Amino acid sequence: MGVIRVVALCGSQAPQSSTESLLRVAATHAELLGADVCFFRGEQLRLPLYGSPADARDAAAVGELLASVAAADGVLLGSPSHHGSLSGLLKNAIDYLEGLRDHANPYLTDKAVGCVAVGAGTQGPVNTMRSLRDTVHSLRGWPTPLGVAVDRASALCQGIPSPAVEHQLAMVSRQVVEFALARRAGAGERRVGN
Ligand SMILES: Cc1cc2nc3c(=O)[nH]c(=O)nc-3n(C[C@H](O)[C@H](O)[C@H](O)COP(=O)(O)O)c2cc1C
Repeated sequence: MGVIRVVALCGSQAPQSSTESLLRVAATHAELLGADVCFFRGEQLRLPLYGSPADARDAAAVGELLASVAAADGVLLGSPSHHGSLSGLLKNAIDYLEGLRDHANPYLTDKAVGCVAVGAGTQGPVNTMRSLRDTVHSLRGWPTPLGVAVDRASALCQGIPSPAVEHQLAMVSRQVVEFALARRAGAGERRVGN
């Protein structure tokens, strides 16, 4: 059984992004559980608006994104709350997953997806979490039971999460990795049963 692969997509390109700080902590916890994490920073997701012309460099960046998502067993999504929803940067990158429509496992099929939403208050990130989960459902993914929706002022101090928030991030990563392991074990059983 190979290593579990997790892809992390960060929906903020802000300098000292609070979303990136928290998503990196979640990614580190996934690595501590033995996962191989491919992390896309906000800048790496700076792609032309989906459906508009793309140059060769953009096409290469999209290809890298699609290959990483297709190869992943699990996903971590991090988004700032932008007007009560996920950032346009992340939504646009997710729209490119339409490129996986005809893949053997289309879109996010069979992948657990841990979501992290960060706002400048509490209402925004909670609504953003809901948007993230709706989007994941649309892509046939499995949002983890726990998501992390936080007000950045109380969740982080100089880029370091509070112990309570770190605990939540660790749990989300555990749920992503354990779901991937369970799916693999289940696939093995189905093969044995055939
Ligand atoms: C365009 C824009 C819209 C925002 N809308 C909301 C919002 O609706 N609710 C909220 O709580 N915070 C909102 N914020 C604040 C950000 O969610 C918050 O500062 C977050 O921590 C930014 O994450 P980042 O540092 O990773 O970019 C908004 C910020 C921007 C730039």
